[in-house]
Amino acid sequence: MCEVIAIANQKGGAGKTTTTKNLGRALGALGKKVLEIDFDPQNSLSTSLGYDSTEEEPFTIGDLVDRTIEMKPLPRKEEYIKHLEHVDVILSNIILSASDMKLVGIMEREYILKSIIEVVKPDYDYILIDCNPSLGMLVVNALAACDTVIIPVDSNYLASKGLELFLKTVFKIRKRINTKIVIKGILLTKFIGTTNLSKESLSDINEAYGSGINIFETKIPNSVKVGESDKEGISIIDFKPNNNVSVAYMKLAREVVENGR
Ligand SMILES: Nc1ncnc2c1ncn2[C@@H]1O[C@H](COP(=O)(O)OP(=O)(O)OP(=O)(O)O)[C@@H](O)[C@H]1O
Ligand SMILES: [Mg+2]
Repeated sequence: MCEVIAIANQKGGAGKTTTTKNLGRALGALGKKVLEIDFDPQNSLSTSLGYDSTEEEPFTIGDLVDRTIEMKPLPRKEEYIKHLEHVDVILSNIILSASDMKLVGIMEREYILKSIIEVVKPDYDYILIDCNPSLGMLVVNALAACDTVIIPVDSNYLASKGLELFLKTVFKIRKRINTKIVIKGILLTKFIGTTNLSKESLSDINEAYGSGINIFETKIPNSVKVGESDKEGISIIDFKPNNNVSVAYMKLAREVVENGR
């Protein structure tokens, strides 16, 4: 059965896109069928997968959202799903920022992404949604559409404050919109085991949430190779398979598979 995972945190630069891209790739390496959805108008996931000019793409996630809002049929899957070597992807571009506005005024506005995902769900083991850094309607749609949430947190900031706000949103959604949503885990990213900041972030989060929320055993280390692989338009696992970040995302994938819902 397919598990839909939202990768979300309203804080910018937490590692959401990097996690979507590389966890997706790592799950692919484990033989899982994976779809990544770029659900951010900034389209960083699309760019970092090598799609530099998504403006010209005929069907991005924004088009699918617009069509669903207008109650028009979706195009055929072949028209909007891109096949990479180990994962499939639905691209994004700036169109999605206008969709965000349009969503505000319509009925069933929380469930637009969910209805798009229903169509493709039977084809995959995992669908990963890369969320934009906000608590707006796009993120609400992602949380309404998902089974589980992974929350990446940059270890170089004391993150517990922003995290509290995000968790409140998840709990609200769980009450009103998606009762079965499970927090799969908090993922520490850009983790430098030797610095006090990373150590403090870990103990801070452990203390604040460790009793109620899973904190992934795997921590994602910091490496300049992440940015370099983005520039190359490939995952770090393909770029530098032995890099400690690649190894960590592979380990995370195993953790994700083992912690099935
Ligand atoms: N493990 C890592 N080591 C080093 N740099 C990293 C790591 N993970 C992410 N980065 C870098 O940090 C920046 C932010 O990462 P990323 O884009 O994944 O975060 P994000 O949460 O998706 O950001 P946004 O909120 O803008 O969507 C990027 O420049 C990325 O290359
Ligand atoms: Mg991002």
